[in-house]
Amino acid sequence: MNLESYIQSLFVQKDEELEKITDSLLQAGMPTISVSPESGKLLTLLVKISGAQNLLEIGALGGYSGICLLRGDDIANLTSLELHETYADMAKQHVEEAGFKDRVRYKIGPALDSLKQLKRDRITYDFFFIDADKGNYVNYLDYCIQLASPGALIIADNTLWGGEVLNEHTENKDTKALQTYNRKVADHPQLESLLVPLGDGLTIARLKSK
Ligand SMILES: C[S@@+](CC[C@H](N)C(=O)[O-])C[C@H]1O[C@@H](n2cnc3c(N)ncnc32)[C@H](O)[C@@H]1O
Repeated sequence: MNLESYIQSLFVQKDEELEKITDSLLQAGMPTISVSPESGKLLTLLVKISGAQNLLEIGALGGYSGICLLRGDDIANLTSLELHETYADMAKQHVEEAGFKDRVRYKIGPALDSLKQLKRDRITYDFFFIDADKGNYVNYLDYCIQLASPGALIIADNTLWGGEVLNEHTENKDTKALQTYNRKVADHPQLESLLVPLGDGLTIARLKSK
């Protein structure tokens, strides 16, 4: 048994609501790249611990992480940004079936456009989950900081990228983007942060009070 299976065997319970999403993704021929079950559980815990209520997710896919986020607070609401309408439709269906109807809204299209709009509307959030195209992670971070209330959490998934981030000589664009993201978060004067080696890596940052 490896460390990942050890953690899963103790801390990840059978979860039909979430397993159903993986089945639907497979049936629809969509990529099965939702957060890992243990990362999903950490998202739920982080929402609970932080008391965050205005949540923003970048990358909805089938709604797996959306459900994990909304499970963290009884009255939290989620804005989820997704490029593909068919994905957002599937996410909406799953999130509603999980009992979170009226607590989620989807904004469809390139996330950078939606973020620009949210900034124009002066909407703020206290919890962000970045899990979309890796090449834009740093751009998403810049927007999240602008949309964040003091003390907000900014979490990004896949920041170990299967261990590829260790490769200093990589020519892979996504790997380079994730290396840049981790470096930027680690050095950012407005953030306190840590990369947690759970699942494919979650970089957790907290915006210091402005
Ligand atoms: C890793 S999946 C998200 C998984 C989801 N967070 C979960 O755990 O259930 C990445 C998602 O980002 C979306 N995406 C990719 N590029 C995007 C963009 N430029 N704007 C918005 N969404 C994008 C993809 O369509 C895909 O649904």
